[in-house]
Amino acid sequence: MSIAIAIDGPAGAGKSTIARAAAKHLGYIYVDTGAMYRAIGLYCIRKGVLPTDTDAVVSLLDEISVSLARDEEGNQLIILCGEDVSAFIRTEEVSMAASRVSAIPQVRAFLLSLQRDMAKEYNVIMDGRDIGTVVLPDAKVKIFLTASAEIRARRRYDELVAKGENVVYDDVLADVIERDNNDMNRPIAPLKPAEDSIIVDTSELDLQQSIDLLVSTIEENSK
Ligand code: DC
Repeated sequence: MSIAIAIDGPAGAGKSTIARAAAKHLGYIYVDTGAMYRAIGLYCIRKGVLPTDTDAVVSLLDEISVSLARDEEGNQLIILCGEDVSAFIRTEEVSMAASRVSAIPQVRAFLLSLQRDMAKEYNVIMDGRDIGTVVLPDAKVKIFLTASAEIRARRRYDELVAKGENVVYDDVLADVIERDNNDMNRPIAPLKPAEDSIIVDTSELDLQQSIDLLVSTIEENSK
């Protein structure tokens, strides 16, 4: 039987960086489910469909295929209709579109089976918003990885600036807060810690300390 570790938490808590490093250390396959929602958000933008237009988004699902692949170094690639779109899904525009489409039940159902199939086949560390609550309720360890909104916005801001994007901190903070609200208040699969999850707060930790804490928390709880 494969082992699943669920990692949920708000945008910008460093989940993907921290979970990816922990997966490498522990020899698990890392699955970034946010990238799947981002791919659907990107598809809508490319097609000129508003991510808030539920009917239009749902009608696109028939023509969308999303899958994950690996490059030679084992990094996750996100494949949208046969195209590697990994380089296009990290903009603020796609972040917001992903947050919007992720509130649509049909979009969630579309990705759910894909995510469950991966956990059946491999030992996974899967990160998202509803992994411990909905996707993998029987996960061996459930972690809710979080940090304050200001710290998350600062990290996101630094990341975007490093990529050469022209952004203003206050705008990034407003986006983080808006996305938190979207993710926590949607009627379907809202972001919240599973009852049996362990809360890991990285506000006061640097990257390496956060990775070490996640690895030790997983090791202690998966015995
Ligand atoms: O983790 P991320 O920022 O890449 O996620 C992008 C968006 O997708 C985010 O606004 C929340 C949504 N999401 C979700 O609803 N459920 C998941 N399992 C993963 C992401």
